[in-house]
Amino acid sequence: MIFVSGSPHHEWGFFLAQHHSGGWEPVTNGESGAYVFRSADGSRFAKCVPAGQQDLLVRERDRVGWLSASGISGPRALDWIADAGGGCLVTSAVRGVPADSVSAGELQQAWPSIAEAVRGLHALPTKDCPFTRDLRQMFVTAQDVVARRAVNPDFLPVEQQQTPPTELLDRLADQLRRRLRQEAADTVVCHGDLCLPNIILDPGTLDFAGFVDLGRLGRADRYADIALLLANAREAWNDENRAIAADDAFARGYGITLDADRQQFYLHLDPLTWG
Ligand SMILES: Nc1ncnc2c1ncn2[C@@H]1O[C@H](COP(=O)(O)OP(=O)(O)OP(=O)(O)O)[C@@H](O)[C@H]1O
Ligand SMILES: [Mg+2]
Repeated sequence: MIFVSGSPHHEWGFFLAQHHSGGWEPVTNGESGAYVFRSADGSRFAKCVPAGQQDLLVRERDRVGWLSASGISGPRALDWIADAGGGCLVTSAVRGVPADSVSAGELQQAWPSIAEAVRGLHALPTKDCPFTRDLRQMFVTAQDVVARRAVNPDFLPVEQQQTPPTELLDRLADQLRRRLRQEAADTVVCHGDLCLPNIILDPGTLDFAGFVDLGRLGRADRYADIALLLANAREAWNDENRAIAADDAFARGYGITLDADRQQFYLHLDPLTWG
């Protein structure tokens, strides 16, 4: 498509309508920079990126296809539309509501089912997963993002926002060998961006309904997912006691004794990999 006027959402909506009738409503242009739409009948989602970023969506399409064949709930890939101007991935909707849109009480109710779903994802045989999101690769990405001065300070924990990203990276580099050894001993299939908006819940039962936003799925240390999920959920609990109880409940449901240092390492690495 060629964008000549109007907002990108408008133009993408027009492009989508040429291929899939019935109307499309903008959902977000989220942190990834992609434009996301929901079909008017709620049955499909479309994620669109301009030319030059299409490989990101191709990666997501392949991962959506793989996960849907693995028995874990998530979207199915329905269509891939691309031309010189960009591309759109059309997927089936996971019916439900994103876990960041429910109240703290509802999230607490959903929590055991989320822990079980993450355990199920991480229990998939790694030998069957063709995608890697290993630490070495994540670290190289972080080095690249930091070298390009492309770290988004908004993604950093508040206490790190005044620290030069090179220093943040150096702190992580000091632990790298140990973390690589841990990863080698315990690699699982990770979601790769396991935050609440990417977990869909059944609004009636509040049970887990599916994972979405699968572009970063791959073999990695389980803590890459756990760190992100627990940190993101912490923002929802509103109170420290509830957050501690939720961490404990997750650990019990998932079946792990949490290693706070390993969790923090992955939590601090993640913001350096976006940009
Ligand atoms: N197939 C789907 N089924 C249900 N909901 C979906 C689906 N695809 C996207 N969504 C909804 O749209 C939101 C944005 O989509 P997605 O996470 O794929 O894009 P994104 O660009 O990564 O956005 P963000 O940066 O906000 O995570 C999701 O958080 C989810 O609520
Ligand atoms: Mg997302």
